[in-house]
Amino acid sequence: MASLTIRKLDEGIKTYLRLRSARNRRSVEEEVRVILGELIEGREEPLTPFSAPPAASTAPTPQRTGALPEASVTLIIGGGIAAYKSLDLIRRLKERRIEVRCVLTKAAQQFVTPLAVSALSHERVYTDLFDPQSEFDAGHIRLARDCDMIVVAPATADLMAKMANGHADDLASAILLATNRKILVAPAMNPLMWNNAATRRNVAQLQRDGVVLIGPNSGEMAEAGEAGVGRMSEAIEIATAAERLLRPPVPRPLAGKRVLITAGPTHEPIDPVRYIANRSSGKQGFAIAAAAQAAGAEVILVSGPVDLGDPAGVTVKHVESARQMLEQVQASLPADIAIFAAAVADWRVANEGEQKLKKSSAGMPPLQLVENPDILATISKLTDKRPPLVIGFAAETEHLIDNAKSKLARKGCDWIVANDVSPATGVMGGDRNTVHLITRRDGEIAVDSWPVMTKEQVAIELVAHVAKSVTGKFLDDKALEPAS
Ligand SMILES: Cc1cc2nc3c(=O)[nH]c(=O)nc-3n(C[C@H](O)[C@H](O)[C@H](O)COP(=O)(O)O)c2cc1C
Repeated sequence: MASLTIRKLDEGIKTYLRLRSARNRRSVEEEVRVILGELIEGREEPLTPFSAPPAASTAPTPQRTGALPEASVTLIIGGGIAAYKSLDLIRRLKERRIEVRCVLTKAAQQFVTPLAVSALSHERVYTDLFDPQSEFDAGHIRLARDCDMIVVAPATADLMAKMANGHADDLASAILLATNRKILVAPAMNPLMWNNAATRRNVAQLQRDGVVLIGPNSGEMAEAGEAGVGRMSEAIEIATAAERLLRPPVPRPLAGKRVLITAGPTHEPIDPVRYIANRSSGKQGFAIAAAAQAAGAEVILVSGPVDLGDPAGVTVKHVESARQMLEQVQASLPADIAIFAAAVADWRVANEGEQKLKKSSAGMPPLQLVENPDILATISKLTDKRPPLVIGFAAETEHLIDNAKSKLARKGCDWIVANDVSPATGVMGGDRNTVHLITRRDGEIAVDSWPVMTKEQVAIELVAHVAKSVTGKFLDDKALEPAS
């Protein structure tokens, strides 16, 4: 069969191949094979020239399709005897759905072959800073930044010295100098090298520079009869540390807490087909439920009729009227925290028609209103099952703060979230909210006014305040964002 020499192809085709292979992070030969495969399967991409090569990105590697890795790592393998453990490390990272691209130092190639590393990583292996195949579009910059993290394992004394002093005379050190990604280093060396004053200085410098070290462990050395601190951490320990840095555990400040939330309007029947309602959309209460769930709480959401999907991981009880809402709230106790965000109708029709009311010559039917149960006051005044933290919402159209303060006193709750729902604010049914958190602090009433925020941000902020009151710690809002 004839062989194909890429060097002899037209300049245009060569440029296309180089750019396409760089974009797909394959060698040119591999790219040609893929194109031929696609042609045979009838799925070829059109040979349209690119306007510009893909820029070295500072963003995390974009995800390709299918069940592909969620994170990517550039693994730099240094020239130490522990390099053989890096073969296992590749496997351990990949089983955690972390894509691995490997760089071998010149010395590392004395211990493991690029072929073995490539076979395990299923990727091309990089060894040379001056490789025309990858450097035509600054490949070392791509390797430095087109990943979520750099792992150096084994990190030789030599490599750490270069890092600490900013050298860049080979591919590995150039990548380490050019990166803005987190670096995890797994040192491996003889105990005397590890304890040498120069290494100690370099390690201290790297730690000051924000490099994360794992190990070395203590144990027997490859050198006969030698033992001490210097053994590289096991592959599984390094992979676990890498995963923790890539996917830090999400704080769950409300874990073990039961949060009861109400949301939406209530519908108070006039007859079997008509009802009295209000303009509440339920968005604020639903956002609070999602934020509390993201904070680790067990969430029960009692919702009036709304046009929203149930938040994931939340138990939702759908009701219509204020009385049904109270019934479901009472049935959901005990709870550690109750947040009553629903716009419960104050009144219902006393003389609800059993049949549809008809027009008649007698004129309009008289609608008699009676007061609905006050859910916030009822639960706040419970003696046995009162949740330790009860939060009410005050939707006002005038004298917002004053009305909210008196509501706090009247209802016996702990906090009030006051919001101005005058039509001009667009709060009712809208996506934004301007709220004031009114709390009792040491017998005094405190007012904390928040800027205009989306209802999701208000929810996150409120849950952060709840978490602080429950745990004593104020959490970074980022930690409470519900997973999208
Ligand atoms: C058999 C052998 C084993 C070695 N093992 C280590 C080691 O475990 N750690 C280390 O720092 N250097 C070790 N070295 C020395 C390094 O290979 C040497 O410093 C080299 O320049 C490191 O290059 P690199 O940092 O670019 O990978 C070893 C050398 C030999 C010959």
